[in-house]
Amino acid sequence: MNKERTMTILITGANGFIGKYLCLTLLQQGHEVQALIRSKSSLNQLTGFLQQQGATMERFSALEGDLEKPDLGLVALPDRIECLVHLAARFAWNLPEQEARHTNVTGSLRVAELARQLRCRLVFISGFMLANTGHLSRLGINRSHPEQTDWSRVYRRAGGYEASKLESAFRLREFVARQGMDAVEVQPATVAGHGLTGELDPAQPLYGLLENLYHGRLAMIPGSPEHWLPLIPVDSLAQVIAAACVANHVPDTLLALDQNTPNLAALLQAAAHSLGKPAPRRHLPIGMMKALLTIPGLPGLLKVAPESLAFIQTCRFDTTVTERFLAQQQVTLPPFRQYLQSSCRHYLESEAGTGKLTTHGA
Ligand SMILES: NC(=O)c1ccc[n+]([C@@H]2O[C@H](COP(=O)([O-])OP(=O)(O)OC[C@H]3O[C@@H](n4cnc5c(N)ncnc54)[C@H](OP(=O)(O)O)[C@@H]3O)[C@@H](O)[C@H]2O)c1
Repeated sequence: MNKERTMTILITGANGFIGKYLCLTLLQQGHEVQALIRSKSSLNQLTGFLQQQGATMERFSALEGDLEKPDLGLVALPDRIECLVHLAARFAWNLPEQEARHTNVTGSLRVAELARQLRCRLVFISGFMLANTGHLSRLGINRSHPEQTDWSRVYRRAGGYEASKLESAFRLREFVARQGMDAVEVQPATVAGHGLTGELDPAQPLYGLLENLYHGRLAMIPGSPEHWLPLIPVDSLAQVIAAACVANHVPDTLLALDQNTPNLAALLQAAAHSLGKPAPRRHLPIGMMKALLTIPGLPGLLKVAPESLAFIQTCRFDTTVTERFLAQQQVTLPPFRQYLQSSCRHYLESEAGTGKLTTHGA
């Protein structure tokens, strides 16, 4: 199914957590990778990682670019690009609307415009909440006429990061449809560590959850027994995105989500076991938790951003189309327990290195 020749693929956000594993996967598959990077230090980190992993650096190059600049700050159109993967985003809680929109919406439209000029496939990364139609309706998003959505209201309800990801997905869909472009939207679940090594960036939401569990800040399970936080290991996600770049026929949308992720209670129990800590047993309704988090100082004390709770939800997703495509591409996910355990092990190792773990810890 894959194109037999090697391809040249441009990646925004190439030095991010997902991006660096995507670069590695594509280089390992023999493709040429161009990374759009905005600083020398980010480039050094990325090349250091790729070299450490034994990647073939002759097929890697970088160009300077910034989502926040007109034309992405590019002085000329890059050469020979056959696919553009758009991963770059401001990924943080409590982002003001204007900042989030500036980078994640306007910046994304600049990337789409570049793909149009290059006449190449655009693979853009949204998020699994785009497949939660009940959530979109509750936020007031008009799915059949997105242009009629009061986006400022969505920003107030969902927070800057999530709202900008939702808005950018709808605007990108409209742009690629209007321009008749070849485009694929990848909707990842919350990213877990590497299936084998468990490597997980400390800025990733799952790392924060493990940290809260380890330090006893998660005394109760948010939500009900029906609530879950779907996961996808970072290396599997990189393979999904790579397949979206190189396969001849790709569905318009790929929902990258491990259906074997258990409910949140079982996830926390398995993680607590790996961390050598007690698991919370009693549930706290999400609404009550949100209300508690309005108490000044509490989100900081508990290290929980209220907007992050939206990802813990009860919606079940249909991944049939994605699973059929991934089977054709011979992409398989590792077992849930394996990558969760690896992520926990990596958490313990990296925190031990910083001296932040308690001496009676695991
Ligand atoms: N991780 C998850 O759980 C998850 C789940 C669903 C969807 N996603 C989506 O997947 C994508 C990548 O996520 P990630 O976890 O890899 O995030 P990440 O580690 O925070 O990486 C973000 C990347 O975006 C780049 N970036 C930010 N602002 C930029 C700008 N103005 N111009 C150019 N590049 C800029 C960053 O570069 P610098 O180093 O220069 O800042 C970095 O390379 C995002 O679109 C995110 O919304 C992530």
